[in-house]
Amino acid sequence: MTNIKKSIHGEWSSRTAFILAATGSAVGLGNIWKFPYITGENGGGAFVLVYLLCVALIGIPIFIAESMMGRRGRENPVNTMLNLSTEANTTPQWQYVGWLGIIAGLLILSYYSVIAGWASAYVVKAFVGDFINTDAAQVQQLFDQFIKSPLQLIFWHSVMMLTTLIIVARGVGEGLEKSVRFLMPSLFALLILLLMYAMTTKGYFQGLHFLFNVDFSKLTGKGVLIAMGQAFFSLGLGMGCVMVYGAYLPKDISIAKTSIIIAAVDTVVALLAGIIIFPIVFSNNLNPSAGPGLIFETLPLAFGNMTGGWLFGVLFFIILVFAALSSAIALIEPAIAWLIENRNLSRKLASLYACTASWGLGLITIFSFNVWSDIKLFGQNLFELLDFLTSNIMLPLGGLAIAVFSGWLMNAQHSQQELNLVSDNHFKIWHFLIKYIAPIAVFLVFLQVMGII
Ligand code: PFF
Repeated sequence: MTNIKKSIHGEWSSRTAFILAATGSAVGLGNIWKFPYITGENGGGAFVLVYLLCVALIGIPIFIAESMMGRRGRENPVNTMLNLSTEANTTPQWQYVGWLGIIAGLLILSYYSVIAGWASAYVVKAFVGDFINTDAAQVQQLFDQFIKSPLQLIFWHSVMMLTTLIIVARGVGEGLEKSVRFLMPSLFALLILLLMYAMTTKGYFQGLHFLFNVDFSKLTGKGVLIAMGQAFFSLGLGMGCVMVYGAYLPKDISIAKTSIIIAAVDTVVALLAGIIIFPIVFSNNLNPSAGPGLIFETLPLAFGNMTGGWLFGVLFFIILVFAALSSAIALIEPAIAWLIENRNLSRKLASLYACTASWGLGLITIFSFNVWSDIKLFGQNLFELLDFLTSNIMLPLGGLAIAVFSGWLMNAQHSQQELNLVSDNHFKIWHFLIKYIAPIAVFLVFLQVMGII
């Protein structure tokens, strides 16, 4: 028996379809908005190095494990974990890993949609010419005024959540495949164009130095946790989303190869974003640790001062919105799959419930930038807390559980069969990474942050 259950969702039409959907889920605001700003807040080079190590040693093995478990379990993350724990003769409590993922997805989408809303508001700002010939102070003011207005933020958040709802209610089908097929090359082309602009700025080498000069004295223990959390966030790992996408995977596709391709594309896009943003930061004497507004305070300067910048600015923010949407639909899919399979809801109703819940939660993030900006716990505002809890605690915990389950509890023959690797050695390398390296690394990072080591 090669799999214990046939997927009730249908399957991807081809390997390319899966690669496109999974890349669409991986590449998003995490690469272009979040990676640069947290790199800026955590001192640059050393943070980037730890991030890359986390992607290679923890992220890729867990990505492989999560898609493999999804394809074998073939349902929403809760049922998949139940199916797999029955097969492995172990406790059904493992289903809580699925629950953790569903909740993390709803929470992340709540703020993801708010930030995607910022990007869509910036499409309009670019279109009406707000960036033309502006300087750093004006761009900063534009952003500050914008996030101080709860009504505007609510409006754009609602537009994004509604769009997500419309797409997911119709089902993850051809539309997604087509849009990602067009999206990734366009995003890439615009990034290359922006890179060319960055190379002409006077801060180019300073930017590169900031990103790639490894100086561990600038990295704190918490920075290490944030780098690891970002590896999970950016690959879309540890929350069952790769698991549901894996559940739609046909048998004959090589999971390992596709996972490595997806991780490579994701990493290249994040690094490109950094190589673009930091030269602009240093050329304009901006602060690299400006926080979540960083790309909104730097990129408009590039568009405002380059030839053809009006057009490229509009296109760039449109594409960023699309990239965010293709991740948003992945974030909500575990919850929807659960509602359909376990509550017998129609896809439309399931989508409506899940999106409404996430929309409501999004108000917390919106208010944390204005009316509730004074509310702080452990020195962090509500958005920062939500992000910390999900990216840096829930996703790594989910990932740790996936690594332990697939490395220690699942029958190695089953995973070998499922992964179907050409060589035994490749399987052995993966098995070693997932059994020892990934879980120990995640565990050590947690211990280190709690001050235990
Ligand atoms: N990977 C996405 C990004 O980097 O923007 C965010 C994300 C998507 C996180 C899907 C988690 C997920 F399941």
